[in-house]
Order: sequence, then C-alpha cells, then structure tokens
Amino acid sequence: MDQDDILTVRGLDVEYATPSGPARVLQDVDLDVRRGEILGIAGESGSGKTTLAVTLLRLLKAPGRVASGSATFRPEAGPEVDLLGIDAGRMRSLRWRNISYLPQGSMNSLNPVIRIRDQFRDVILEHEPQRRRGLDAHIAGLLEQVGLSPAVARMYPHELSGGMKQRVLMAMCMALEPDIVVADEPTTALDVTIQRVVLQLLADLVETYGSTVILISHDMGVHAQLVDRIAVMNEGRVVEVGDVRQVFKDPRDPYTRSLIESIPTMEGTVAGGIDA
Ligand SMILES: Nc1ncnc2c1ncn2[C@@H]1O[C@H](COP(=O)(O)OP(=O)(O)O)[C@@H](O)[C@H]1O
Ligand SMILES: [Mg+2]
Repeated sequence: MDQDDILTVRGLDVEYATPSGPARVLQDVDLDVRRGEILGIAGESGSGKTTLAVTLLRLLKAPGRVASGSATFRPEAGPEVDLLGIDAGRMRSLRWRNISYLPQGSMNSLNPVIRIRDQFRDVILEHEPQRRRGLDAHIAGLLEQVGLSPAVARMYPHELSGGMKQRVLMAMCMALEPDIVVADEPTTALDVTIQRVVLQLLADLVETYGSTVILISHDMGVHAQLVDRIAVMNEGRVVEVGDVRQVFKDPRDPYTRSLIESIPTMEGTVAGGIDA
C-alpha cells in the first residue's frame, strides 16, 4: 500500500444470499489503484467484476452483502474515507463529483422521458447549485468534448444511437471532473468501429481531466489497447495484478495465461496492441 494511492481495497468479501446459503462472489479482494492510472479489471463473465464495481460505488443491492473489507479512498481534496463505511448521504455527495460510474449496459440508464440537457443539469446542480449561470454553455462544451453537437442537449435519449448515448454518459461522468471514473464494459454493446472511438475518447478524457480510471472488461483486447496496469479476476479473487505489458508478456497465473491465449491473433490484438 502507498499513501498516495487513490484507492486501497483490503480483504473485501461480498456474498449473495441464495436459497442454498450465502454464495461468496468476492473473496478477499485486495486492490491498489494508483493516482492517474488506467487500471483494467479483467476476467470472464461471472468472475465478479461488476460486483466489485457496484460494491465500491455502494450500489450493491440485496441479496448482495459486504461481509468484510475496506475501501480507502483518498480524494484530491478532502480527507480520506472508507467507501464501505460512510453513510449514504456522504456517499451521495462523493458520487459524480469524486467518483463517477459508467454502469454495464449504461446506454439504458438515461431517463427516456427527460431531455439530455436536463439530465446533465440534475447531476451538476445537485452537487454545484451555484453553477446555474453558464450551465448550458458548460453542457455544450462537455458534449463537444465527446464529439457531439450541442444540439444533442435538446434531444431525448431515444433520438440517439447507442454510440451517441455512450458518449453522452461519458460526458456526464466527466461533468464534475471526478477523481475516479469506474467504467464497466463501456464498449461491450457497441460494434467494433465505435468501440475504438469510445476507448480513444476515454483515453482523451483521462488526459484532459487527469482522472484515474478503473476500466472493467472481459475483453483482453480492450486492456491491451488502453490500460496501464491490469488486475485479473477469477471466481471472485484477484489472481494477478501488474503492469499490462509485463502481464501480457509473462503471465504468472495459469488463468491469466489462458485468457491471453484465447485472444484471437489477428492484427490489433496481443501482438499489435502491446508494443513492449
Ligand atoms: N443478484 C444476484 N444474486 C445472486 N448472485 C448474483 C447476483 N448478481 C450476481 N451474482 C453472481 O455473482 C457472480 C459475479 O457476477 P458479476 O459480478 O456480475 O460478474 P462479472 O461482472 O464479472 O460478469 C456470478 O456468479 C453471478 O451469478
Ligand atoms: Mg459484469
């Protein structure tokens, strides 16, 4: 652990209650997130990636339950907090402003009956009520940064394509310049060309705002393209963490090796994506 790490997860156990008793889906997870990095969380479907994200965001719902552990978050400004221990009001004040979350399947998370502009306003004004003046220009600027016309502000979500909705959500995640963005499978529902655009956008946003990113993806190709370090999950445990080049070149864990070997070897994958 480093006192300058932005997030330190220790001994995290999460279980879901099932008719046949509690099922552990996160087992003694330790994770160190360095300030300013893009940390990839890899692992097959069902390995616990989304459970980890929703637990950190305090969005874990019953029958899920944190059995033990801590998640020490050290925001850029303000005292450190244990995300798993603070009250709901405190967590609400951190969300969007300090930690923003792009949920898996987030394209469906925009409210269909509210114009894009008003969804931005709600997020921004909840945290920064003094920001009312010049707000529309701010929103237009955010849309522009993700390559969308300011006219999108007046539209409803159903008028946008999947890729456009994903851009809107990314812009919303950056609206308050958070310390950390947690993006859960941000490209999975998109076709390949749009995937690349979305990943590049994410990289640009990190560069612009200096945010730390936790990028969750089952797709090792995505990690190869974008992340600095990678944590590999298998059956609720972190089995390997390291510099992404190092891990791809010389995986220590057999499960990691099998994930890497399962990447199709066309251009743009392991060989093309990692320039060691
Ligand atoms: N609401 C739930 N009730 C019971 N089990 C769940 C629930 N949500 C997820 N799980 C289980 O937790 C495990 C991890 O799921 P998840 O975190 O969604 O994995 P991933 O995001 O890596 O695909 C899976 O075995 C899944 O079946
Ligand atoms: Mg998931």
